[in-house]
Amino acid sequence: MPDIARYLEDRALVLLSNREPYEHVHGKNGIEVRQPPGGLVSALDPTMQRTHGIWVAWGSGSADRETADEQGRLRVPPDDPTYSLHRVWLDEEDIDGYYLGFANSALWPLCHMLIQHFRFRAEHWTRYQNVNERFADAVASEAMRAQADGRQAMVWIHDYHFALVADLLRPTAPDAFVHQFWHIPFPPPDILHLLPTDVHDAVLRGLLGNDLLEFHTERYAFNFLSCVAESVPDALVDLERRQVTCGEHTTTVGVFPISIDVDEYESLALRPASSARVAELRARYAPGDRQLGVSVDRIDYTKGIPERLSALELLWSESPELRERFTFIFVATPSRSDLAPYKALEEEVISTVAAINARFGTPDWVPIVLVNENVNAELLASIYRAADICLVSSLQDGMNLVAKEFIACQIEERGVLVLSRFTGAAEEIDGAVLINPFNVDGFAAGIRHALAMPREERRRRMADMRAQLAKSTIFDWLEAILSEASSLMNERSVQRWKEPAR
Ligand code: ADP
Ligand code: F6P
Repeated sequence: MPDIARYLEDRALVLLSNREPYEHVHGKNGIEVRQPPGGLVSALDPTMQRTHGIWVAWGSGSADRETADEQGRLRVPPDDPTYSLHRVWLDEEDIDGYYLGFANSALWPLCHMLIQHFRFRAEHWTRYQNVNERFADAVASEAMRAQADGRQAMVWIHDYHFALVADLLRPTAPDAFVHQFWHIPFPPPDILHLLPTDVHDAVLRGLLGNDLLEFHTERYAFNFLSCVAESVPDALVDLERRQVTCGEHTTTVGVFPISIDVDEYESLALRPASSARVAELRARYAPGDRQLGVSVDRIDYTKGIPERLSALELLWSESPELRERFTFIFVATPSRSDLAPYKALEEEVISTVAAINARFGTPDWVPIVLVNENVNAELLASIYRAADICLVSSLQDGMNLVAKEFIACQIEERGVLVLSRFTGAAEEIDGAVLINPFNVDGFAAGIRHALAMPREERRRRMADMRAQLAKSTIFDWLEAILSEASSLMNERSVQRWKEPAR
């Protein structure tokens, strides 16, 4: 386990993301706490537990105000606190304009290159700017507190919700080191150019406010540098060293593929309760030599869900011998349901699953078992462990942590990962059966190939993927970023020291 704390000895980590790690809601039994699904929270909560920093985020839960102090602060995780959460409040108009509007109807589809879902409204952009300013103020106040305690702040911004914050912090927190991780793909220039020119330029300049800007893959980093080279006339872009200089300020661009807490997933899968559940799942859905497939995602149009259902339908139609011999557990949690394309997709998923089950099901067999809700991590780990194949069919995906969670939980090494070639994970990990979700015949053939794969080949591929994953955990990711940020911080203070007194 890398020693992460040494990078933060005399520094304070201030993390900013839109989504909070713990949300309090009014439930049936009073106030309940839940962890929102999504790669960002899954990846960052374990890292914050190790680094004891402060996390600034939107307080989105219905009972969030009651569970925080007057400044919106509380200690988390609630049952074993190790770090602080600073909640920032948004009203309905903020949520519509900033979160549902510019972030999720403009930047999200553009970055995933699914431009049919791209919607731009000037009022959303205005609200996005305004909300970015408010979050920048909250972060600056935390940076000041750290400084008053004698510690330099290392501000770590997350994702596309805050493209403007780094630049906004330059005047308000001039001594803070500011870096940002972009969790989703970054598109090539022709796609980003679909934004109005002033908005497009503001997004790029906002990101250039960072001292270090981090992407999952070389391709996303290259796309960002190409956008800057084409559109920011005063920027000097050094593609080889991955640096951009604008006036006095330099932004270093780095590649850091995100991962998961591998030991935690493995130990969840190994718990006695999980072993019992694996036995139950197999007895119920895949007795004898029958097989069990699984997929897990937020219902999002980037995940290739209709494409996956079409491939399964084609498979059972072209290979009737697989009926009753291959059952699929489909874990799909509603997400961003206030947006029309997401709501429509939720309805489509439910009706398509019902149609497939009606077409192929028998009195003794349901082809697709739909679990239409958020599932706790222990149950997820048992489902991953029980499966013979896992389908990840994203049309575009920054990394895709589900692929890595499946690998971590495959204790018996029986499972095959069928993985879209358009995920960051496919660029990083060797050993999956790669598919193109836009090609339904090829996708169905990939599933057939996985189901027919001999035991020895499955074991070899999975053991190989597990070895790769063990060398690249969330803590390795964190260490790589903190060590790069730390050395840039040291360099920067040396340069400052060298500057002649004015
Ligand atoms: P994204 O960040 O786009 O949601 P990822 O695959 O990177 O995609 O991460 C998704 C995370 O959310 C994973 O940690 C996964 O376990 C979790 N998740 C997705 N769907 C569910 C669900 N139905 N129940 C619980 N967790 C889920
Ligand atoms: O990983 C990409 C991401 O957008 C995260 O920023 C986010 O937390 C997750 O997907 C889930 O989306 P949302 O926060 O909109 O529910």
